[in-house]
Amino acid sequence: MKYAILSDIHGNFEALTAVMGEARKRKAEKFVCLGDLVGYGASPAICVDIVRNSKAHCISGNHDRYVTGVTPMDPAIREVTQATIEYAKKMLTAPQIEYLNGLPLQIMTEDGMLFVHGSPRNEDEYLLSWEAIQENILYLKMNMPDVHLCFFGHTHIPMMATGTRIEARFEEKTDMAVFQLADSKTYLINPGSVGQPRDRCSKAAWAMYDSTEDVVEFHRVKYNIGGAQQRMTAAGFDPRLVMRLELAK
Ligand SMILES: [Fe+2]
Repeated sequence: MKYAILSDIHGNFEALTAVMGEARKRKAEKFVCLGDLVGYGASPAICVDIVRNSKAHCISGNHDRYVTGVTPMDPAIREVTQATIEYAKKMLTAPQIEYLNGLPLQIMTEDGMLFVHGSPRNEDEYLLSWEAIQENILYLKMNMPDVHLCFFGHTHIPMMATGTRIEARFEEKTDMAVFQLADSKTYLINPGSVGQPRDRCSKAAWAMYDSTEDVVEFHRVKYNIGGAQQRMTAAGFDPRLVMRLELAK
């Protein structure tokens, strides 16, 4: 089965449609969405509809939970970002909110894949440090021994790690990277962010996992950033957020 793994779409319609088009061209059979469908971007409603209609395995991210009210707004989140969450609340219909509300915090598949937003042990954890990665791999081994592959998002930075070392971090200029996985290892894999990349590469990020071949591919896709920025400006978003799509940090 070829899984297209998407995360952190953040209401970016232009990036989402570019990634889904590319994934379909590459014969993706099942879509997975690791949360944060909304927030930051100016097209939350259409992004929720696209993901819902794709029948993706989808989990909720912190921004989705801020919008539904399940999680109170984190006061540490900047005001300009909070404004985009308030905007999403206004733009979403009751059935779209209901869809977000019904999303689980994690999904485990029968063949040993785990989908989470933050980390296996905590949906809000940012998996960035080597210590946190090691602790979470240990957590998987002790609490979910059947899981050999965990896809996570939240940091907006593509990466792949195992218990012994970080296999790869993708900084920039790589439109595709392919890795053969090994049966004996436990992997933590972040496909990067579709709609809000933060690794200084403005192209939309996503990954394909072929479970038959046990191969993961990381992809970057050019999309109409100007179009997404125009929508954000028209929605009255802070210019720093508009520029951030280009700066990707
Ligand atoms: Fe996010």
